[in-house]
Amino acid sequence: MACGFALNSILVTGGCGFVGSAFVRYVVREHPGVHVTVLDALTYAGNPQNIACLPRNRAELVVGDVCDAKLVRDLVAKADAVVHFAAETHNDRSIADPAPFVKTNVEGTFTLIEACRQLDVRYHHVSTDEVFGDLPLDSPARFTEESAYRPSSPYSSSKAAADMLVRAWVRTYGLRATISICSNNYGLYQHVEKFIPRQITNLIDGARPKLYGDGRHVRDWIHVEDHSSAVWQILTRGCVGETYLIGADGERDNLSVLRELLRAFGRDGDDFDWVRDRAGHDRRYAIDNSKLRRLGWTPTHTDFSSGLADTIAWYKAHEDWWRPAKEATEALYREREGGARGGCCG
Ligand code: NAD
Ligand code: DAU
Repeated sequence: MACGFALNSILVTGGCGFVGSAFVRYVVREHPGVHVTVLDALTYAGNPQNIACLPRNRAELVVGDVCDAKLVRDLVAKADAVVHFAAETHNDRSIADPAPFVKTNVEGTFTLIEACRQLDVRYHHVSTDEVFGDLPLDSPARFTEESAYRPSSPYSSSKAAADMLVRAWVRTYGLRATISICSNNYGLYQHVEKFIPRQITNLIDGARPKLYGDGRHVRDWIHVEDHSSAVWQILTRGCVGETYLIGADGERDNLSVLRELLRAFGRDGDDFDWVRDRAGHDRRYAIDNSKLRRLGWTPTHTDFSSGLADTIAWYKAHEDWWRPAKEATEALYREREGGARGGCCG
């Protein structure tokens, strides 16, 4: 297995989304010798403002689809490595309309790995802990690199399918690939459809936050900056053919996160709405990050309360960034949630 890798020019797909743009900003800030080309289709989730602060000679945006084989091949041919973030990413949307998830997440990955194998370019694949399905609430078990794939939703099954393609391309064609599997990210520039930004922006608007089901679902939160440094570590130090789990020991149930947000806004801890649960809703995710720590990575943004306070402050200061998406997002949620109540009485 080849370990260690040097690079001057990388292609980052999905670099105008939440996690991809954090990675692009991280690379430009921390690795001055590296040029970044971003390939992004600018779907509802992509926003060029997320990388607009970066110098043009360091980060260049190409607007296009990862399923466009000719464009992908042309861009891969100019890169030393590809880091693939682009995806449809929201579970609720995948339940309402799965087709774009299969298209972008499966066919998009196929298109990229075909170009990388034909041109022998190093490939890093960004995946999610949701490929493993969920863990019980009442057990200390965590996901490891050996956990079985048991995805629950159209989103997670499309990500699992993409991972399977990458694994097969490594074994059959010798594709020089690594895979990272990360837990729930939070931080700046996250779309208002996701749990934490949705509740923060509801609270800014004086509206009541919304909690699915009984609120006991557990997510293993990691700051998006730590995800970026982990991907860089795997890309440059990881062993080809290997998978690495990324997490920062941040397990919290949704009700506790929501109450922390309510406290930060000086609101009563019960001042929220229970709403209809997500179909097939995963109970708990938890990551054992030992393998990645052995590779020399440690998370640095591990104070969740302070990370949350910074995130709240950012959304308060950047209403111009999130306001245009807010009303349409809440309209979709109103359709899904209707008047239904969740909570212990369902
Ligand atoms: P996001 O929805 O915020 O951004 C996705 C980006 O991909 C957008 O910029 C969008 O325009 C782009 N995109 C979508 N379809 C495309 C296409 N066909 N061609 C080109 N670009 C396209 O997503 P995110 O939260 O930043 O997640 C990025 C990656 O990280 C995904 O692969 C996701 O599965 C993975 N991930 C995310 C988390 C998390 O908590 N957010 C955790 C683990 C893994
Ligand atoms: O685990 C990694 C995954 O984390 C990523 O692969 C996904 O792309 C990312 O969206 C995220 O998936 P989740 O489904 O866990 O994230 P979401 O923000 O949608 O929801 C987090 C939890 O909060 C989940 O248990 C559902 C719940 N929730 C969500 C919303 C939007 C609520 O209770 N109320 C809400 O309004």
